[in-house]
Amino acid sequence: MDLKTTPVDRCWLHYRPVEDEALSRSYRQWCSRIICTLPVEEKTPVLAELVAGVKQLVAVEPEVTAHPDGRQGMLLGLMGSAPFIDELVTPEETARMNGEGFLLKTVFQPGPLLLLTAHTEQGLLYAVFTFLRLIQTGRSLDRLQMVETPKNLLRMINHWDNLDGSVERGYAGGSIFFQNNELTADLDRVREYARLLASIGINRIVINNVNVHTEETKLIATRLAMVEKLASIFRPYGIKLLLSINYASPMEIGGLPTADPLDPQVRDWWRQRVEVIYGRIPDFGGFLVKADSEYRPGPFTYQRNHAEGANMLAEALAPYGGVVIWRCFVYNCQQDWRDRTTDRARAAYDHFQPLDGAFASNVILQIKNGPMDFQVREPVSPLFGAMSATNQLLELQITQEYTGQQIDLCYLAPQWKEVLDFDTYARGKGSSVKRIVDGSLFQRPYAGIAGVANVGDDPNWTGHPLAQANLFAFGRLCWNPDLTAEEITEEWVKATFGSDPEVSTTLSRMLLSSWRIYENYTAPLGIGWMVNPGFHYGPNVDGYEYSQWGTYHRADWQGIGVDRTMASGTGYTGQYFPENARRYEDVATCPDELILFFHHLPYTHQLKDGKTIIQHIYDTHFEGVEQVKELIQNWGRLKGKVDEERFRQVEERLNKQLVAAEEWRDVINTYFYRKTGIPDQHRRTIYS
Ligand code: GCU
Repeated sequence: MDLKTTPVDRCWLHYRPVEDEALSRSYRQWCSRIICTLPVEEKTPVLAELVAGVKQLVAVEPEVTAHPDGRQGMLLGLMGSAPFIDELVTPEETARMNGEGFLLKTVFQPGPLLLLTAHTEQGLLYAVFTFLRLIQTGRSLDRLQMVETPKNLLRMINHWDNLDGSVERGYAGGSIFFQNNELTADLDRVREYARLLASIGINRIVINNVNVHTEETKLIATRLAMVEKLASIFRPYGIKLLLSINYASPMEIGGLPTADPLDPQVRDWWRQRVEVIYGRIPDFGGFLVKADSEYRPGPFTYQRNHAEGANMLAEALAPYGGVVIWRCFVYNCQQDWRDRTTDRARAAYDHFQPLDGAFASNVILQIKNGPMDFQVREPVSPLFGAMSATNQLLELQITQEYTGQQIDLCYLAPQWKEVLDFDTYARGKGSSVKRIVDGSLFQRPYAGIAGVANVGDDPNWTGHPLAQANLFAFGRLCWNPDLTAEEITEEWVKATFGSDPEVSTTLSRMLLSSWRIYENYTAPLGIGWMVNPGFHYGPNVDGYEYSQWGTYHRADWQGIGVDRTMASGTGYTGQYFPENARRYEDVATCPDELILFFHHLPYTHQLKDGKTIIQHIYDTHFEGVEQVKELIQNWGRLKGKVDEERFRQVEERLNKQLVAAEEWRDVINTYFYRKTGIPDQHRRTIYS
């Protein structure tokens, strides 16, 4: 298979030569010969990836043969493809590998061999990418013993790309798939993307926006050829393609008078559509549906509930093994700010929890990590764990809509780790979100994690070069949510920038501190929002305060925050299992970083560190700006140690971040000073 170079950034697949000569020599001893039992045919990229990778990393052109002869080398092949492979694998190792898993191990009998094997080609591809990453990160190969299987079945990227080439909430240029309502001419780039995704274990991709407009509605019909073409590019990399669909398709493109899910004509229409799709794309993944959400059509129009709506599609997809992924981002987006009883945070649970058990087995509910909308800090959605008889999928936002839009540095792995590790107590202590979304807690057939993509057609994919780390971390956490943010960060930095210890220490520190820094200078203590309406960048404290979107902070001259308690507020805390409900209900035990999400409190309320809320707001906002200055200084020290182009790009973004952080600091501090009249204890400059 031809791995043609395209003029785009190779991200973490930039295989730069190993600098340590002794290490490189030892790698070369293993990599100079590859015994490969795979049919060397065009379709599989497994061998091509391995050969191309080692060539670049250790400057060796491996000799590829079919049989071992006692000399040192690598052994690459599927289980069952040759007795000399099977003999090296213990029954225990065989059992531990699932269809997507693999074994990497060093053996010395009958000769020194590095074995890469799996039950499937997809597993073998993951073995190859993992192996290459071990070299990139300087690991010894002399005593390898790794059985890896992905913890999550669905490891999925959601693109919010439109056919006209725009990307909803995209901050890195236009779509890499579409342009002017056609497929892009640069399909090499799509192939490059498939490699990137496969290298971090992604196995599903939704190629179009959840808000499905007129042209995109046709993807399941007259524009299916585009989908077929893209599916053929992703297929060799083990990635199945899904489509976001328009629930009103039977009316908009089918000429029917209704889209009622219980109408036999509607059911037939979908069945026929699905049959056509599978006729052209036999491994099609299924549909992603945003229904009855933010003006999108759905079953409510016909007085049907979400289960009735989803099950109709599930029935059409079931014979082919397809799934329906049904989003739970359903709330009243025409709320009246004067109304204090309606609480958007409650909506997903209120709509879906009563339907537990009513969904078909191939329906999966996709739930955003928090109850609101990808804010810098939110509690975990109480829906996780609350539906033990329903498949659940976690939705994260890799694209930084509310976290700096790939201008500000905001590395999200630490946030995602907190979400995944959050204990819901659904089945007592230890019922973490990661065990719910990997299906193990409730023994669900389908489960996993979805992330809204942060890539576009910018040469470096993500606009901010360091935002590539978010995509990498997302894939690695889908594969194994038990990895620590530190481990993932180190892998990414070394694979992307090489092994210079100063680069790796400085950059890891910058990344790992960046979420907290962003939080410091933006909306405080879990309250969220305070952004400019519509495009969501930059401070605007009251931007959403008198709007219809249900996103209020309720600040007056005495206090701020939303009372979501059972005792006196909206009762949202009661949606959690008792351990968490109690913790959030009581100001004394509610974590400070979320205190204003759950409680309306006076500015003089003392936080657990003894500071008042108002002083906390001032302090974090001054500190946040200083921290951005430190980021700039730290990056400056890497001049000459990272390539000029990327150095300049990051420097430029950090400078913009500083301007943004100063704006946030001054707007937020001034707003609260004006509201309260309480001066800063340290007498720093606040504009009145
Ligand atoms: C956010 C975002 C929208 C998006 C929506 C969704 O509200 O701003 O652009 O469509 O989430 O997730 O459906």
